[in-house]
Amino acid sequence: MQKKKIMAMMLSVVLTVTTLTACSSAREGSSSSSDEKKSEATTETATEAESTEKAADTTEATESTEETASDSEATPAATEGFEEGATIGVSLPWLGTQNWKEAETMFKEELEKAGYKPIVQAADQKVPQQQQQIESMIENGAKVIVVGPIDGTQLGSALEQAKDAGVYVIGYDRLIENTEAVDGVVQFGSVRTGELQGQALLDGLKKEKGEGPYNIELFGGGPADPNAPNFFKGAMSVLQPEIDAGNIVVVSGQTEFTQCATEDWDNAKAQKRMDSLLAGNYSDKEIDGVLSPNDGIARAIVTACEDAGQPNPVVTGLDAENESVEWVWQGKQYCTVAKPTQDLVAKSIEIINDLKDGKGMPATDVTTDNGKKEVPIYELDPTVVTKDNAKEVFANDPDRMALMD
Ligand code: BGC
Repeated sequence: MQKKKIMAMMLSVVLTVTTLTACSSAREGSSSSSDEKKSEATTETATEAESTEKAADTTEATESTEETASDSEATPAATEGFEEGATIGVSLPWLGTQNWKEAETMFKEELEKAGYKPIVQAADQKVPQQQQQIESMIENGAKVIVVGPIDGTQLGSALEQAKDAGVYVIGYDRLIENTEAVDGVVQFGSVRTGELQGQALLDGLKKEKGEGPYNIELFGGGPADPNAPNFFKGAMSVLQPEIDAGNIVVVSGQTEFTQCATEDWDNAKAQKRMDSLLAGNYSDKEIDGVLSPNDGIARAIVTACEDAGQPNPVVTGLDAENESVEWVWQGKQYCTVAKPTQDLVAKSIEIINDLKDGKGMPATDVTTDNGKKEVPIYELDPTVVTKDNAKEVFANDPDRMALMD
């Protein structure tokens, strides 16, 4: 078996070299477009244009891969499983929010405990850096690469290289888009998360702000992150009917995701936008609530309202970050949504163990169209946390319980 695997790998290397030579111009094209992206300021238009360019590159690369190195090279290594102590790569987008820091620590600890050799890296929101990290994980012999993409559409070429080398690719927390080179994604339901945020905002307004109509504003996450439009879509499925009925008023009139998105999930940018929304629209009225896509942005919004002398609005969040658990407990942030990192990491390692044992990817009921294929989704359920249920939700989490003394 070992011999067969080595043969398969050698064949795969030869074919990969052929493939790489065959489409070197396409690859050169795509990497230079990433480099350009690094050196230029990342305007939204530039990102969009590059995505399209990249999508075209991806198609080309996939087609030539099919011609020269059929899927059968990737599959035997995978279905035969791999050795104990194998190298596993984990590529995270950044460490700017608590969930990613937790993921970094937990993946290192839990993969080691399970007998693997982890390479865990974060890419500081820079797409070319993430592409390079993935390529070096492949060179270092990773059998599985777990990826939380910075930009869901920008990893096609790096991940196709992983596939050519017989490496399994698992998306973590975020969808990987526009490529066939992904075997499955482990995540909390992203549209579901948004629905919970929208519903919690509505409930909070009724509970804390008396009779409507209520004045609110809307915030979205980073536009490159495939979760962000889904969170917004889920929230709007609850809020739009209330807006249409006149029960809720978005005073600025900004209700499109593109108007509300926060580039790179940057809290400072969100605070700046909130400052100008308040200055431009609320000099003669109170703001009752704000839809926030995560906890960092929620705290930025609350701070901007405080600075503008507004009474504390009802604000949603996500991640159950320590500081926000404290704020929810003190009543400064109305709610957060818990999506425990330990559950996502545990599910990822469960899948990695199955792959090691030669069982292949586990079956799943949920799939999502990523633009190129139906991707199996291993979906977990998020939970809304308000002051009312916080102690219940975190009963088994001593660190968060300690924040609510
Ligand atoms: C994650 C959130 C996180 C955000 C910013 C999203 O994709 O699901 O947990 O707050 O990225 O890092």
